Amino acid sequence: MTDILRDLDALRAGFREKLAQESDEASLRALKAELLGKKGELTALLRGMASVPAEQRKAVGEAVNAAREAIELLFTERLAALQAAERARELSGSPLDLTMPARPVPRGHRHPVMQVKDEILDIFKQLGFQISWGPEVEFEANNFEKLAFPPDHPATDMQDTFWVDVAGGPSNLRTLLRTHTSPVQVREMTSHSPPLAIVSGGAVYRRDDDVTHSPMFHQVEGFYVARNVSFAELKGVLTAFVHRLYGDDVPVRFRPSYFPFVEPGAEVDVGCVFCSDADGTREACRVCKGTGFLEVLGCGMIHPEVFRHCRIDPEIYTGFAFGLGVERVAMLRYGIPDIRLLFENDPRFLEQF
Ligand code: PHE
Repeated sequence: MTDILRDLDALRAGFREKLAQESDEASLRALKAELLGKKGELTALLRGMASVPAEQRKAVGEAVNAAREAIELLFTERLAALQAAERARELSGSPLDLTMPARPVPRGHRHPVMQVKDEILDIFKQLGFQISWGPEVEFEANNFEKLAFPPDHPATDMQDTFWVDVAGGPSNLRTLLRTHTSPVQVREMTSHSPPLAIVSGGAVYRRDDDVTHSPMFHQVEGFYVARNVSFAELKGVLTAFVHRLYGDDVPVRFRPSYFPFVEPGAEVDVGCVFCSDADGTREACRVCKGTGFLEVLGCGMIHPEVFRHCRIDPEIYTGFAFGLGVERVAMLRYGIPDIRLLFENDPRFLEQF
């Protein structure tokens, strides 16, 4: 029994001594655990209680508790002192430097396709066109019939078009992912009366997938409807546009072409930006296939049937419309060989724009 009391005294004294040496909170706590924890020395000591004669147990028990309390108290005091010292050190040390520059946050930028789209829309805004918008999920009628596509036109084929079922949508009106932005013409001409000068840009969808075709791509569409609009105005506006986009020197040519919703229809070609006569590379140019011209735009005078579908009198009004692919402009401008690069979102590619 006296053994236990002696050990207790030694324990308490030893603790006081060791405590004074600990200079940080973590080792202080570790020291306390060594004594009072489940595997601590005091606990080990208590196991000796079994051999203490019954009449002395009470006294020994009290001594053990007193020792525990004394140790706890010493610990609490030392902890408070350490924390106060730490705080004092913080306050008297050099102050926090609030002017230190933060770690730089990498900054993103607009996608090259969006940059080119906005640039195109800006040119038409400067030419007096107003921006409008149409949905990407479109009624079949707006995408095809009202634009005078014959019912068996190949563009309406399952091969070309993504048909979509809209939950809760009208069952008699078929819906699809618009295959071009031309339905914006129908929507605007049906809801507003001329004069109208509108441009619109956005995503369109076709079942195409190769180096120059993506199932989703972007178009800019524009049209002008008023009294006495002529093909000369179409040529004037689109030539001005091409010159602002590609530079005043670039040759422009209009070539007859067919779209069901225009008559006459044309395609606009610009001089190939990848080759020139001067250095004799034209013959070998893979991009323009040696023709020296690249097709960049579809256009034409709006077909009277389209006007009638939109309740506009073709005897009073005439107009022109045009459409172009945004990715194609970006690919030509930056020499991008594969359209899919634009949609893989690899930062090493996108950072270049
Ligand atoms: N919508 C046509 C296309 O996607 C382009 C076009 C628009 C042609 C307007 C003529 C007039 O190919």
